[in-house]
Amino acid sequence: MDQLFSSFQIKNLELKNRVVMPPMCQYSVTNEAGTPNDWHYTHYVSRAVGGTGLVIVEMTNVEPDGRISNNCLGLWSDQQIPAYKKIVDAVHEQGSKIAIQIAHAGRKAEDAKTPVAPSAIRFNEQYKEPRALSTDEVKEMVEKFRQSVRRAVEAGFDAIELHGAHGYLIHQFHSSYTNKRNDEYGQLTRFGSEVVKAAKSEMPEDMPLIMRISATEFVEEGYQLEGGIELAKAYKEAGVDMFHISAGGEGAIAPSRNPGGHAGYMVPFARAMREALEVPVIAVGRLEDAHLANAIVGNQDADLVAVGRGMLRDPYWTVHAAHELGQETEVPVQYERGFA
Ligand SMILES: Cc1cc2nc3c(=O)[nH]c(=O)nc-3n(C[C@H](O)[C@H](O)[C@H](O)COP(=O)(O)O)c2cc1C
Repeated sequence: MDQLFSSFQIKNLELKNRVVMPPMCQYSVTNEAGTPNDWHYTHYVSRAVGGTGLVIVEMTNVEPDGRISNNCLGLWSDQQIPAYKKIVDAVHEQGSKIAIQIAHAGRKAEDAKTPVAPSAIRFNEQYKEPRALSTDEVKEMVEKFRQSVRRAVEAGFDAIELHGAHGYLIHQFHSSYTNKRNDEYGQLTRFGSEVVKAAKSEMPEDMPLIMRISATEFVEEGYQLEGGIELAKAYKEAGVDMFHISAGGEGAIAPSRNPGGHAGYMVPFARAMREALEVPVIAVGRLEDAHLANAIVGNQDADLVAVGRGMLRDPYWTVHAAHELGQETEVPVQYERGFA
């Protein structure tokens, strides 16, 4: 039976355990170049030292104005590649694997003078009104995603995650709440599917493509789980190998759609997606109780378990979880005496 501390393989990505650090924006870029600095290096490498099977680098954007803020990461130039490679190499040295979340914030780009989106609909009064991308600009955007993925592959990442969740650009295109277009990109999964295919065209055949998706929307008029499953089916068809199941982010949560913040609140979505799509999934959402995380894998709710805020508190979450579950896990030789 699979457990949190059993290995996992998808294509040529081999993980030593089922623990994932999900992408978490650090808003810590301090240079014009939009590249990781010492903070990012320490942040990601510490979680590898802490035993995490798969580390996913935060939302990393395909153009400067595609960032939530000017303190967010980007991968829009070849000159940015070495700063990422340094982190990738150090994570590998610790025996962990590393992916990167490639994204565009669309109408949620807060520092862009005029953010872009499928349609000119603002997120809320606090956000700027976005400009609708022209048809040609949408095609160019697909190319920007392609180029960022190429750079990520060149930097040595083991897998790519596309951000199709939380009300960012890909999500904005596949939601009828934010996409009111009359051109071919009014077809909800067209943009996302083209991005998936563009990403795949730059990835080695045996490297898995992950997509993060909001399984359900939390606004009153939003799509629900059945709708989320249909979207994911189109993306699987386009080439996605594994889904990372989150929810919401497109607008204010309607009281009738509030999922609550209890432990495992998005696990039912992960299970439903896994069953419907017959591909591996990553579950996330208050899963930092080691026994709960282990049960999710054991009960086949999900193949991998992501621990976000829990890992902000504890970079060694994985080592501590192993200890709690009575499992053996390696610690760096320098730290062995601390665990003897
Ligand atoms: C500080 C912070 C930054 C985040 N940034 C991202 C991000 O860059 N991309 C993303 O898909 N989700 C992001 N999230 C969501 C997390 O990946 C995760 O899905 C969420 O925190 C729920 O998991 P948890 O309960 O284990 O924290 C962020 C969450 C936090 C707390």
